[in-house]
Amino acid sequence: MRAQLATDFERFKQRALPRDFPSDVREAYGIDLTGRYLGTTIPHPIGKGSGQLSLNQGQLEVDAEAGLAFAVLKTVIAQDAGGAQSMAAWAIHEAKMKVERRGGGWTVTWKGRGWDRSFEEYLALARVGGDLTRDGHLLVVPSVKYHLPRLGEPFKDSEYAFTTRALATAWGEPLLLLEKDFSPTLAGDALAGEQEQILRWLREVPVHIRAQAAVRLAVKVMNARFDDDFQLEMVRAAAGADALVVFNRLFDAAQGVAYGGPELSERNLRVLGQLTPGATPGIPELSGTGGISSGRMILEYARRGCESVQLHTYFQLPLDEYAATDGSRTQRALHQLVFDPVDGLIAGMLELETQGVLERRGGELHFLDLAANAHHAR
Ligand SMILES: Cc1cc2nc3c(=O)[nH]c(=O)nc-3n(C[C@H](O)[C@H](O)[C@H](O)COP(=O)(O)O)c2cc1C
Repeated sequence: MRAQLATDFERFKQRALPRDFPSDVREAYGIDLTGRYLGTTIPHPIGKGSGQLSLNQGQLEVDAEAGLAFAVLKTVIAQDAGGAQSMAAWAIHEAKMKVERRGGGWTVTWKGRGWDRSFEEYLALARVGGDLTRDGHLLVVPSVKYHLPRLGEPFKDSEYAFTTRALATAWGEPLLLLEKDFSPTLAGDALAGEQEQILRWLREVPVHIRAQAAVRLAVKVMNARFDDDFQLEMVRAAAGADALVVFNRLFDAAQGVAYGGPELSERNLRVLGQLTPGATPGIPELSGTGGISSGRMILEYARRGCESVQLHTYFQLPLDEYAATDGSRTQRALHQLVFDPVDGLIAGMLELETQGVLERRGGELHFLDLAANAHHAR
């Protein structure tokens, strides 16, 4: 199998990775890559996190063609029927992105801004997303940043109502899939200095969203400026969501930017390692994000309970960082994440089998068994 892996890796370097590569992987290696996001079964666990790589229909179509499992749209800032946005400070244009090395890995400068075009344009994109999802081409998930009140202040339900209902209508049947973004810049904001305030948001935001429309809701939990214990407390507070995206980027207060790389994945994995999804009732499905640049790193998140992963930076590297010389950037990234003979998902799962961590069932290794085992082990 290892010889075959080396051959496949070479073969797909020069010709674009086929869209249904998970079937090939199943046939050739007896490996079932099936993952899950927001209760939906996906052919493999790798999706694209919210950001600059999912701003228009063209990007979604390229990703669908590449066989990406899902894409989260850029975060839109909620508004009421009159167009008022209490979080308007985030609806401004992101300065030019810089891909650079930080702490031995890659990171992309991000100030944490949201969608900067009109809400109508976002609805049009959500409509395209609903169609792609229904047609089975690509699972597309809109992302929203809603009003977050100070302690003692009420939520602005007019923004929750208008934005959620408009998105649900644009999306169509059967059920809107939605991510709620608590961006890391919030960690640098005076509003986020208060633990009680953050916990209230995590507890109450899902209730305010669900009051407006039937949705399947993922909450993207930010990395707060507090210790690991508080991070765990945040996860417990957000148990009213259907899924948790764990965890958004770190915030560099001195530079005023959100950053990723190994520092982010180390912290995320450390905190997830302390979580007890099986033993703590009500911890929802987990989707890992942060500093993922290899199949091996995907497995680290999976072994801590994640059933899918959302990458951003890795889909944005200079082209010569990928081994493949043909195909879209998404195809080249997927090729390396899955087929790299040393650090890829297949190589990593075969190694876990050798180590006795993962066992074949019905002759196959199943990616989702890793998260299931993580839940049992605890
Ligand atoms: C340029 C850029 C823009 C981003 N925009 C958003 C956003 O609008 N909403 C959001 O929830 N996350 C956003 N993110 C966070 C990513 O979705 C992702 O969770 C994070 O970058 C960690 O993954 P990575 O280490 O693979 O980049 C953005 C990240 C980058 C680099």
